[in-house]
Amino acid sequence: MSESWLPAELAGVVRLADFEALARERMTAQAFDYVAGGAWDEVTLRESVVAWQRFRFIPRVLREIDGIDVSGAFLGKSSAMPVAIAPMAVQALAHAGAEAELLAGAAAAGIPYALSTTSSMTMEDVAAAAPDAERWFQLYLVGDMAHSRRLVERAERAGYTALVVTVDLPVLGRRERDVRSGFTLPGLPHVDEVREARAERYGGIEGQWRNGLTWRTIEDIGTWSSLPLVLKGILHPEDARRAAELGAKAVVVSTHGGRQVDRVIAAPEALPPVVAAIDGACEVWVDGGVRRGLDVLVALALGASGVLVGRPFYWALAAAGRDGVQHAAALLRGELELALPLLGCSSMADVDRSLLA
Ligand SMILES: Cc1cc2nc3c(=O)[nH]c(=O)nc-3n(C[C@H](O)[C@H](O)[C@H](O)COP(=O)(O)O)c2cc1C
Repeated sequence: MSESWLPAELAGVVRLADFEALARERMTAQAFDYVAGGAWDEVTLRESVVAWQRFRFIPRVLREIDGIDVSGAFLGKSSAMPVAIAPMAVQALAHAGAEAELLAGAAAAGIPYALSTTSSMTMEDVAAAAPDAERWFQLYLVGDMAHSRRLVERAERAGYTALVVTVDLPVLGRRERDVRSGFTLPGLPHVDEVREARAERYGGIEGQWRNGLTWRTIEDIGTWSSLPLVLKGILHPEDARRAAELGAKAVVVSTHGGRQVDRVIAAPEALPPVVAAIDGACEVWVDGGVRRGLDVLVALALGASGVLVGRPFYWALAAAGRDGVQHAAALLRGELELALPLLGCSSMADVDRSLLA
């Protein structure tokens, strides 16, 4: 891995988890807790990292390995690895360059980035920072349906190539770190455009934000653009089957980083039944607690084709802007490049259930 571009402050960052301490130094305690925290007792949050670590590999040996290829694909487009950056709100809390800086880092790393509706910058300004970068727009319903529809149409015009509709936020989860610290979300241009929307839906972080999404609404949203539809926040196999029937091109098995309902099944445990229910009808991605290349390989072995990573990229952005993001991606990629031959594989296509105990 060439690290000649690495800024000095990142020299000691050798794994994704190392970014967290740097971010803690650079962010206010309140903002750090908003990002780090989860719902209620944070049981799901804590389990999300260790759940991946419970799986054990059975490596293969003596196979011909002719070059290592860690590339992946999302929605038919190739990616430097099967990893994308999860949608996360208000990145101005991490860095003055906010989402634009994160997208620039993602572009340098050759991986897709999902922009949240609750971003600190408009989607057009973010797109302008890296016009060629692969980017998706994550939708929350904001204001009335007409405004939400305008957001989707704007995303299509601004070169976002997928619509990720987050379905696990019927109301906002209760995150007690934020209740205690009195955290409120700073400026949200896509929301603040609708004058009443903020007061109505984001009155306080602990407030009564109601999303209003149902299977009916999802069907409507699918007609608003030609963007492929991705449903994020699916855990139940019956919901997964329904998403595929509705024409979703991918589902994301996700607990929303343990921020919505506590004590929900961890993503790697929810994944195999979802993969079975989808039965190849669309792509299955997964997120939550992925911190190592080995976690990515577990996800692929369990049948996912892509993995989203959240907080580590937020910390990396706080630590060193786009360089931090690029370094985070390089660390993950390096781990994949090392782990594949150690397991007797040369590409992601070789990773399947037979590699796990
Ligand atoms: C600070 C923060 C903000 C988030 N905001 C959003 C959001 O706006 N939309 C969304 O779909 N998911 C959001 N998520 C959930 C992430 O997309 C993702 O599911 C989760 O962070 C993955 O877990 P990980 O952080 O352990 O990798 C957020 C997560 C965090 C940590």
